[in-house]
Amino acid sequence: MLLLHLSDVDEARWAEAFTQSLAPYKVVRQGEDFDPADVDYIFVWKPRPEAFEGLSNLKAVLSLGAGVDALLKHPRLPDVPVVRFIDKDLSQRMSDYVVAHVTMHHRQFTRFQADQKARRWSQFYPPAANETTVGIMGLGVLGQDAITRLRPLGFDLRGWSRTPKVIDGVAGFAGAAQFDAFLSGTDILVNLLPLTPETQGILNAETFAKLRRGGLASGPVIVNAARGGHQREADIAAALADGTLGAASLDVFEVEPLPADSPLWGLENCFITPHIAAISNEKTGVHYFTRIIQDHLAGRELINVVDRARGY
Ligand code: NAP
Ligand code: GLV
Repeated sequence: MLLLHLSDVDEARWAEAFTQSLAPYKVVRQGEDFDPADVDYIFVWKPRPEAFEGLSNLKAVLSLGAGVDALLKHPRLPDVPVVRFIDKDLSQRMSDYVVAHVTMHHRQFTRFQADQKARRWSQFYPPAANETTVGIMGLGVLGQDAITRLRPLGFDLRGWSRTPKVIDGVAGFAGAAQFDAFLSGTDILVNLLPLTPETQGILNAETFAKLRRGGLASGPVIVNAARGGHQREADIAAALADGTLGAASLDVFEVEPLPADSPLWGLENCFITPHIAAISNEKTGVHYFTRIIQDHLAGRELINVVDRARGY
């Protein structure tokens, strides 16, 4: 039996689609009448504290999200494999966000928007894409997809990961020892890291001060589409105000929804979206997890299992 336990998304629609695609295998939703001991798999998003109660025969936890930081912190997460979502459609949506914000900042959108507001005709020519370096933090599924979409646009690309990576046309940096060198040549810093104890708060004043100055006229830029826990919002607000950063695009926040009194809302060089960079698509999601369940029931190994010790 598959149990759905989803918050903040339309659980009924996912349940209907799973019921069709897994039939005659039984699919149930939280709150329905079933014996928890019959549940083999639980499909979760933002599970409540009691989500896993009584699931004594659970084989795996299936995560609707690509990021599993919150799930791994669940105090009663059972000791079974956690499978996360990896999907072309999700990668495409994330790369759409990354490309939109990188190109917007490269073309100095903040400056021309201010000029327009002031009715000021000020001819300023942004650098060419190949004179602008985009540094991607996190060279996993999403980081590598963003690279394949930024590369044809001509940007100079560099990437930072935990272990070294060789990627065509990308200057690679790895580990804490190479972080400063990575930052020192970066004009637009894109964060696609998982949130772990090592990456918590990585977007902070010290990091911003190490970014390249002089590449983009208004200062270096950050784009965070990963997790709010990666950023220190007080540092971002200060850096945007004093020119350490020229602009920021933030899709995620320390507290979501972003509180109405956050100073970030009022900054003209801060571009806020409400955690919508990429959402798991029901159609491809049901297809992906149906295959995982059916393969596993047929005796094959689970794929895309999270390394709990590593935290992603
Ligand atoms: P992934 O495939 O697991 O890739 C993670 C990358 O980060 C890997 O390259 C890894 O290095 C690197 N990394 C991890 N810890 C590091 C450290 N301490 N120092 C340097 N590099 C480190 O993850 P993904 O699928 O690309 O997803 C990334 C994150 O995006 C998710 O965790 C989630 O939080 C976020 N996300 C956000 C949204 C949204 O709507 N805003 C949607 C989907 C996902 P190695 O290659 O060496 O392992
Ligand atoms: C969304 O934030 C995800 O992790 O998929």
